[in-house]
Amino acid sequence: MTRFKIRGEQKLSGEIRVKGAKNSILPILAAALLSDKTVVLHDLPYLIDIENMMLILQSIGCKIKREGSTMIIDPSSVTDHVIPDRYVKEIRSSIVMLGAVLARMKKAVITYPGGCEIGQRPINLHLQGLRQLGVVISESHGYLECEAPRLTGADIHLDYPSVGATENIILAASAAEGRTIIRNAAKEPEIIDLQNFINSIGGRVHGAGSNTITIEGVKRFNGTEYTIIPDRIVAGTYLVAAAITGSEITVSNVNFEHIQSIVTKLREAGCIITHSNGSVRIKSPQRLRAIEHTKTYPYPGFPTDMQALLMSMLTVAKGTSIITENIFENRFKHVPELIRMGANIRTEGKIAVIQGVPGLKGARVNASDLRGGAALVLAGLKAEGETIVDDIHHIDRGYEKLEESLRSLGADIERVEV
Ligand code: UD1
Repeated sequence: MTRFKIRGEQKLSGEIRVKGAKNSILPILAAALLSDKTVVLHDLPYLIDIENMMLILQSIGCKIKREGSTMIIDPSSVTDHVIPDRYVKEIRSSIVMLGAVLARMKKAVITYPGGCEIGQRPINLHLQGLRQLGVVISESHGYLECEAPRLTGADIHLDYPSVGATENIILAASAAEGRTIIRNAAKEPEIIDLQNFINSIGGRVHGAGSNTITIEGVKRFNGTEYTIIPDRIVAGTYLVAAAITGSEITVSNVNFEHIQSIVTKLREAGCIITHSNGSVRIKSPQRLRAIEHTKTYPYPGFPTDMQALLMSMLTVAKGTSIITENIFENRFKHVPELIRMGANIRTEGKIAVIQGVPGLKGARVNASDLRGGAALVLAGLKAEGETIVDDIHHIDRGYEKLEESLRSLGADIERVEV
């Protein structure tokens, strides 16, 4: 077991650079399969989710080389269409492999990905969309067996703007015959990044970032060299780390537009935030103010991936804050852990009421999911005394050596193997 040991109450200072977005990289790695030419990706952090996605690509025949934050993918010898179970269980978002493998091989087999730490996470919208493109899907013994001798463009209306479903449909439609229109599509920046990547290898995707995306299928794709957009959730995490500790730091390689909803909340709490040339400077007050009501929504709304992090900050703000989690049904697992650290939080269904306390106390707590785990680390930075965060493999799925990044800003945190 690996854990973080944190001694709190240290101020942070200095500058930290954000790398490429995990949630862009995963679908873009899948999209590399559309081509049989070499793809070079830049600015990739070392994350367990990315390593696992790399293993999936290798298991079906891709050759991959990693040189620091650059990855070179040669998909010319892909021969297999069966995505091994063990990785799908490890990394739920590997479901985006389905659209990509179908585009490349015209068939695919994948385990039905079950629920995860933050809820049920159904894939009905992915499957409905793929069926409309002509994919025949049979579900048996926990496997999805998919065949599409011919993928054909279709007019698809999503019941809900699911990020993963939008990505899967874009991937399959990119190699379909004719035009696909996705209505009520997800508008997340990572969808735009996927569009830009696919277009850079010769695809024809338009409209990402709006709720209608049009894809003209093409027969041949090229190689490319591509730099991933900065991770807006990692940027948000550092900003909240500064806010909760009353610090002043600079976060660089940030697309300010992508973090608008986060910045609005931090300003409401009393932080002063300025930006120029892709860098964001945050100056935090001695005591944060409560934020009346935060509701998670699809982009450009406040991201569910920041909910736990914001909550950890609000535990020490002056006054009462309310958070409504609209996206995932089981995303309050950090609450009992924050309460162990002295927070005053009540939850009912998807609503959490946070009564700010003057300070937190170090405790032994458990990370049960990625962002919830990071939220506990931030609480530990603020807390008096020592905090131990157990099960940090969840955190390593989405943060590259979080302890080294926070230490470079002056935090007292170490990784301990036991
Ligand atoms: C992606 C992100 C995740 C983020 C989430 C919401 C990646 C790798 N992960 O996850 O970090 O928290 O977006 O911003 O990019 N739903 C259905 N049926 C479906 C698909 C989804 O009902 O077929 C529901 C889900 O249960 C959930 C909501 O739609 O309530 C949002 O899910 P979705 O946008 O699909 O999230 P992911 O793509 O899984």
